[in-house]
Amino acid sequence: MHGITGHALSSMIPMIQGVATARNAVPGAYPLGNPRAEIHGLNVLVVGSGGREHALCWCIGASPLVDTLYCAPGNGGIGEIANRIDIGPTDIDGLLGFCRSETVDYVIVGPEQPLVDGLVDRLTEAGIKAFGPRASASAIEGSKGFTKDLCAKYGIPTAVFGRFSEAEPAKAYIAANDAPIVVKADGLAAGKGVTVARSEAEAMAAVDEALGGRFDGAGHEIVIEEFLDGEEASFFALVDGRSALPLASAQDHKAVGDGDTGPNTGGMGAYSPAPVVTPEMHDKIMTRIIEPTVSAMAAEGRPYTGLLYAGVMIVDGEPLLLEYNARFGDPECQVLMPRLKSDLFPALLAATDGVLDQVDLRWRDDVALTVVLATQGYPGDYEKGSEIRNVKSAEELPDVTIFHAGTETRNGALVATGGRVLNVTALGKSVAEAQARAYEAVDVIDWPQGFCRRDIGWRAMTRGV
Ligand code: AMP
Ligand code: GLY
Repeated sequence: MHGITGHALSSMIPMIQGVATARNAVPGAYPLGNPRAEIHGLNVLVVGSGGREHALCWCIGASPLVDTLYCAPGNGGIGEIANRIDIGPTDIDGLLGFCRSETVDYVIVGPEQPLVDGLVDRLTEAGIKAFGPRASASAIEGSKGFTKDLCAKYGIPTAVFGRFSEAEPAKAYIAANDAPIVVKADGLAAGKGVTVARSEAEAMAAVDEALGGRFDGAGHEIVIEEFLDGEEASFFALVDGRSALPLASAQDHKAVGDGDTGPNTGGMGAYSPAPVVTPEMHDKIMTRIIEPTVSAMAAEGRPYTGLLYAGVMIVDGEPLLLEYNARFGDPECQVLMPRLKSDLFPALLAATDGVLDQVDLRWRDDVALTVVLATQGYPGDYEKGSEIRNVKSAEELPDVTIFHAGTETRNGALVATGGRVLNVTALGKSVAEAQARAYEAVDVIDWPQGFCRRDIGWRAMTRGV
């Protein structure tokens, strides 16, 4: 069914909140809804190739509203549930051409770079609906300085900061403030643009590095901010330009080694919910951070539509914004999706169409925990092409789902093609149970060239949950 992309797709779904996915449906738990026949059979394209996009495809592909699911470019695991298209996420012309030729009804953008580059703007101008913010609103992730200024102007709690494009005033600012202090490249730097400097000398060196071109265009400007000593959590909300629907909280594990040691990575594991985000904390994050941001972006003429991911630091019971991302987290998405009982797809459409107030998503109480398996050497140099065995046997364990990141299937064998390779995800009644199930599955996988952290979930476990 095509030719309806100019209309509000979600308005054709009479009971958004009631639509359950085939996979996740819990009969009798809530109304199953009755999506009208005319919106069955949508062609949907997911853009990206990581574990996040596998988890999104896993959810979206189970929606009764979706007929054909494409993923550009996808990975070895995504190829089992979606049609892979050999177009990269930043090839905007290529993606646009594909959407036109295959009459794609809806595009879901996974990573940040195409958002900042204006993929959603180009698709929307071509009459193709897309999930994700336009370039002007993606500045919330694309420029840390923009977001800090927004916080200052609208009273959103965040660390005290300065913005600099010259080394001399930046160093004077550091000298006037005590270490530890945090130096951040302004633009997208693939998670590597932040230095938490323990000494003044380290902070000065980080300034020289960033302004000296280490992060290319991303470091022409820097933010220097106060070090916040607290507990970090990720918070996710869908936003439709005017209002926000909270999804869930999670905690990531950024450092490569057990006990949060070694260099930072894209994320070595996660779990959801984060116990530090109590119901009271949830309300504080919504009313002090998320909702004022949605209003601020609208007031700035940059209405925000899509997924808003707040990295927060909780200090003495108060949440402060560390950063925003304009997309789902990876690996956090891999622990949000298995907890969702409702169909995600109409909720995404509702965010695009500005009718999120009609959506009520239902969640499992269970904890989800994911362990990232990475190639030895990551986040530094690593070899590609090693074979991974027994993934299917691991997936047969109860409550275990494996989302692929850097994998390909070659001559019937699964091979590693990236740094982060698999996300071994399990559900359980507690963090301890989910953790035990995830590591049981990890131990079934035969991959001598891989490694993982052995302590995913430790922070929650120390709270006894
Ligand atoms: P960001 O990309 O801004 O989230 O920074 C990456 C990581 O650096 C965060 O996840 C925190 O662990 C740490 N970080 C960033 N800003 C601060 C801060 N002001 N105080 C302490 N840690 C920070
Ligand atoms: N897990 C961190 C991120 O997605 O940015």
